[in-house]
Amino acid sequence: MTRVLLFGRSGQVGGELVRQFGQRTGAGAATVAGTPPLPQPAYELNALDRAGCDLSDPDAVHAAIARAKPQVIVNAAAWTAVDRAEAEPDACHRINAGAPAAMAAAARDSGALLVHYSTDYVFDGSARRPYREDDPVAPLGVYGRSKLAGEQAIAASGCAAVILRTSWVYGLTGQNFLRTMLRLAGEREELGVVDDQQGSPTWSRSIARATLQLLDAHATDPAAWPGLSGLYHATASGSTTWFGFASAIFELAPGLARRPRLRPLATADYPLPAPRPAWSVLHCGRLQERFGITLPGWRDALSECLAANTANS
Ligand SMILES: NC(=O)c1ccc[n+]([C@@H]2O[C@H](COP(=O)([O-])OP(=O)(O)OC[C@H]3O[C@@H](n4cnc5c(N)ncnc54)[C@H](OP(=O)(O)O)[C@@H]3O)[C@@H](O)[C@H]2O)c1
Repeated sequence: MTRVLLFGRSGQVGGELVRQFGQRTGAGAATVAGTPPLPQPAYELNALDRAGCDLSDPDAVHAAIARAKPQVIVNAAAWTAVDRAEAEPDACHRINAGAPAAMAAAARDSGALLVHYSTDYVFDGSARRPYREDDPVAPLGVYGRSKLAGEQAIAASGCAAVILRTSWVYGLTGQNFLRTMLRLAGEREELGVVDDQQGSPTWSRSIARATLQLLDAHATDPAAWPGLSGLYHATASGSTTWFGFASAIFELAPGLARRPRLRPLATADYPLPAPRPAWSVLHCGRLQERFGITLPGWRDALSECLAANTANS
């Protein structure tokens, strides 16, 4: 059993990680009647929410790790309120840079592997080809700067760490574009949606599955961790605009009572406190080369997510 400590269990990615790890905790996992259990690694998961550890307190982070003695630390927690970050930069930095720094120091001292998530917002969006991991970073706002500082603190600590940069995360829970569109479908005849930002909508479940794939192959081999440590881009394949994403949601969502007419907007027509990169597409080849992992295409994942949403409701 690999002992895993997860921060952020109530989040979009954290919730999906709890689900994925829950299918691997031993009893009854991955068995089919009449056949032996599949030889998948098992995990002992300790998943914390804000009540279990407030990440604004680095001592609480150290104490949680000392208590759980994990072999693997997964940090799915973050300050993700991008616009509010502009008004509360210190609080945002504490969660997105201070907490990962504390986790990384504890991981280094205890020999644990740290898995951490970062964002396309570390780039300024001026490129017109998919960003690679070593392309120059230039975040446009407080959130992006805080996430970049988190990446840098982890790298500087010298701990074994895999950092997965992802983008445009949506899922069945929490606040996200998919859920907003499904809600607005019932309320509006017409919707204006930004059509000049390009990115890769990524289902939180695809991120959790990729994380488990990575851990399944490598979590039990600490000797390999230093060689695997580093930055990886991990988004759905393909890209679209928010307008294209909204169109696909209304096209693919089963059983919608009505589908609003969509009107393309320019970013300038929809001003928000935090600037967004106009181009957020990430090149994910390194994840494929090093780990053999490719996330599904964004439309396929969206279809699966919408089907799961219907099955749950
Ligand atoms: N959402 C996106 O579009 C997006 C895009 C690119 C990258 N990412 C990155 O992907 C990762 C996962 O994002 P997500 O969308 O799953 O995030 P999310 O749904 O907003 O969840 C964030 C989690 O962090 C927890 N958290 C926040 N402040 C905390 C604190 N002071 N103490 C303890 N826990 C705290 C939240 O707990 P509460 O429920 O108590 O608030 C929640 O569990 C993050 O690293 C994020 O930066 C996200």
